[in-house]
Amino acid sequence: MTDSVQLSPVQSGYQSGFANEFATEALPGALPPKQNSPQRVAYGLYAEQVSGTAFTAPRSHNRRAWLYRIRPAAMHAPFQRIDNGRIVSRFDQLDSPPNQLRWNPQPMPATPTDFVDGLITMAGNGSAETQSGCAIHIYAANRPMTDKFFYSADGELLILPQQGRLKLRTEMGVIDLEPHEIAVIPRGIRFQVDLPDGEARGYICENHGALFRLPDLGPLGSNGLANPRDFLTPHAAYEDREGDFTLVAKFCGNLWSAKIGHSPLDVVAWHGNYAPYKYDLRNFNTIGSISYDHPDPSIFLVLQAQSDTPGVDTVDFVIFPPRWLAAEDTFRPPWFHRNVASEFMGLIHGAYDAKAEGFVPGGASLHNCMTGHGPDAATFEKASQSDTSQPQKVDQTMAFMIETRHVIHPTTQALASPTLQNNYHECWTGISKHFNPEQK
Ligand SMILES: [Fe+2]
Repeated sequence: MTDSVQLSPVQSGYQSGFANEFATEALPGALPPKQNSPQRVAYGLYAEQVSGTAFTAPRSHNRRAWLYRIRPAAMHAPFQRIDNGRIVSRFDQLDSPPNQLRWNPQPMPATPTDFVDGLITMAGNGSAETQSGCAIHIYAANRPMTDKFFYSADGELLILPQQGRLKLRTEMGVIDLEPHEIAVIPRGIRFQVDLPDGEARGYICENHGALFRLPDLGPLGSNGLANPRDFLTPHAAYEDREGDFTLVAKFCGNLWSAKIGHSPLDVVAWHGNYAPYKYDLRNFNTIGSISYDHPDPSIFLVLQAQSDTPGVDTVDFVIFPPRWLAAEDTFRPPWFHRNVASEFMGLIHGAYDAKAEGFVPGGASLHNCMTGHGPDAATFEKASQSDTSQPQKVDQTMAFMIETRHVIHPTTQALASPTLQNNYHECWTGISKHFNPEQK
């Protein structure tokens, strides 16, 4: 009977909770029992702290971890600049159009391309140097990073697979990731990406600013939206492997490469609250209207990166998951709108309820500050005539939005890409004039 037991994700290899004080060891007794930096660490390991916030950050925001590893992170040859490929990090000099923008999916690579080589920067704002704003990339890869390791000093990486699973082998353990799940790799944490399905495509938000956190719930109470127990952090796992390897760093917007004679995935034990995690978007507890009107999309907020201005986030990560629409006498899809915030959207699966066609899985859209947008003509006509006396299930969908306080500049390569839909605006040009002053 035991082989019929289904292990939960937590039981099968992850620690549960958001930014908990985790403690994990791959060898018994590898963690010092009562201190961080003993004179001699068990098994001949080196102790090393990695901090993700200022030492003096308030306790509620303070994030760091202690790693116990075979060799310290300082052991590698000097870094040399390498080509940035399609990674872009300067956004302030771009002439951004106020147009609605939408892209078809990036094609899978035609030649062997690993996760780092397959990064294509679509848009961004702020800068890595000033630790503000974010960069938005798409990845498309078909080769595992066998002897290559990577980290970004420029920000934490929110990774959203859209097609194909990823095996994220990090310093602090292994994360298996599939479409509908997200992972966050903290700034500076080294990792490599294997491709269990041979090829993979998805989105990345590289958050230069304050670390992602769970939003406050206000009148919702103590439960709802993304629940902390559904965030999963790996247990310690290490490899003791020597060879001619490459460590690639993203630093101040540029790629740098160093030779390293051992695998940096050699952390035998660690403790702390600065660690990679994953979250299954299908676990999101979606809140909506049960009376009238379509609420603001802030009710779909999964993670937020706060700015120095209360209530105004640098980055909001929002999803549009399957859900019931029950509002009566209401235009149920998203309304026409212009926002001070800027919105980059992607689609993991299915269709999005404001667009009848054209916004496809793996594609993207960008609606910047005060750019008018909303339902397309077909969606408007259908939703304004539909029966709202019965609830309606929006199913087979998973869209997401990166919403930022600052304008999101599309990169020159994104604007020149053959995937850009030059006729996107036409989805609104067919909207009919219904106005008749004689008929209320
Ligand atoms: Fe919008």
